[in-house]
Amino acid sequence: MDGLYVVATFSISILLMSILWYIKTSLERRKNPPLPPGPLGLPILGYLPFLGNNLFEKFTELGHKYGPIISISLGNKLCVVINSPSLVKEVVRDQDSVFANRDIPAVGIVATYGANDIVFSELNSKWRAMRKIFVQEMMNTKSLDASYNLRKDQVRTAVRQVHAKIGNPVEIGPLIFRTELKVMMNMLWGGKIEGEEGERVAYEFLAVAPKLVDLFGKPNISDFFPFLAWLDIQGVKKQMETYMQIVDTIFETVITQHERNLSGEIEEGKKDLLQILLEIQNKQDSEISISRRQIKAIFMDTVIGGTDTTAITLEWAMAELMNNPAAMSKAHKELSEVVGLNDIVEELHIPKLKYLEAVIKETMRLHPAIPLLIPRSTSQSSIVGGYTIPKGTTVFINVRSIQRDPSIWDKPLEFRPERFLDDTIEKCDYRGNYFHYLPFGSGRRICAGMPLAERMLMYLLASFLHSFDWKLGQGETLDMSEAFGIVLRKGTPLIGVPSPRLSVSDLYV
Ligand code: HEM
Repeated sequence: MDGLYVVATFSISILLMSILWYIKTSLERRKNPPLPPGPLGLPILGYLPFLGNNLFEKFTELGHKYGPIISISLGNKLCVVINSPSLVKEVVRDQDSVFANRDIPAVGIVATYGANDIVFSELNSKWRAMRKIFVQEMMNTKSLDASYNLRKDQVRTAVRQVHAKIGNPVEIGPLIFRTELKVMMNMLWGGKIEGEEGERVAYEFLAVAPKLVDLFGKPNISDFFPFLAWLDIQGVKKQMETYMQIVDTIFETVITQHERNLSGEIEEGKKDLLQILLEIQNKQDSEISISRRQIKAIFMDTVIGGTDTTAITLEWAMAELMNNPAAMSKAHKELSEVVGLNDIVEELHIPKLKYLEAVIKETMRLHPAIPLLIPRSTSQSSIVGGYTIPKGTTVFINVRSIQRDPSIWDKPLEFRPERFLDDTIEKCDYRGNYFHYLPFGSGRRICAGMPLAERMLMYLLASFLHSFDWKLGQGETLDMSEAFGIVLRKGTPLIGVPSPRLSVSDLYV
């Protein structure tokens, strides 16, 4: 009898609680607009099992079905995808401060010394100070000019290496990635570490950095189910910790070496970024300061944020040019006129290469390296497009879909650099003020490395195109499919066969 009484009391309590919960949520719903529409998923897993192997296509397809803003559960994370320029404006301009936190992945915390960097830091005073140092001190024209020879050395080395392979197939992606990585390394610390020690450090770093970049792109269960993160089911975090031990030893070596030699002479065009950071650290009366940990975290941002993005963009640019011989010959013609076949490309030629700039803009329209931007996270509940976005929601901005939208772009799937030369609605810059063209993002979290990225994209592409004619290997066809990931890689590697263009063979030496 007692047992029956307990069961009845328990059941009535559950029923009452359910009714109260229903009334409360109904009232709340009536008070707040609903969540954005979106597909239903499975309990616990949400929509994860249905994403397929092309996330960007899936988000675009769902956009067509549910509208310009959709909500979707991935694991136990609520995500919102923005698919229209007017809603992008609401997020990155009108309510920028609410949408300016990051959703940091588990490996991100390890790789950035506990989010002590710029990319993954929350929006706070520490982030503001770091970003100020990065943009105003490291990425200004004077600092970038002062490190020109550090970039040039590596680019000329790469051209020489390609020249040694004339007539043979060259895998273009790895060629550009390795060159870009060496450029970054040289710019970070190459001005003061040379000789045998420089070579040893470079060798060790080149061995570990690509593995680290790859690990960043690996889908991780811990990110979809944060309550399971402590288990590190796939061992991704542990693997990152192992790589970071190696990386940290390298960083410590180069910092200590620089500290010993800080007042030494600086060769023309060889002032590296570490020298700038250490000068800031040593300034007694400076308003800005930076810790050793933050210096190392900035190194990581530069390597992870800057290397793969640039390499991916350039591989797509080369693929599009090889696929469009008319565009390739226009780019070559411009280089012949501006640089001349009896000279090599220098950074000072860049402002005159207007067609090449349009080629890069068009490449980044069709193939934005980070197609959903780096996910934002909301710091408070807000309303976008008439829908509620709760606090802590992960927000993706579907740049790839917007940049291919036929209601905005004329024949959007065609590679047509000219659209960035004509005075039409389509002509726009990288600064994030045109909400239909955002390859570097927008608002206060817009890419902080843009000035260097613009130089490197132009300088590398111009150097490889001016020095060589590129053809597909015999019997090869171009596959322009995309691979799944947080960055938009080519599905199959691009292989080109170079032949020399310059009139003097000494220019390759
Ligand atoms: C083709 C080259 C590049 C592309 C396409 C690219 C793209 C992006 C994008 C889409 C974001 C996120 C923007 C947003 O959330 O609105 C970003 C952030 C960032 N990028 Fe780049 N990037 C490139 C190169 C670089 C380089 C070379 C560096 C470093 C030297 C760099 C450093 C950063 C940093 C530090 C942030 C974080 C900014 C913040 O959260 O405040 N990027 N980048």
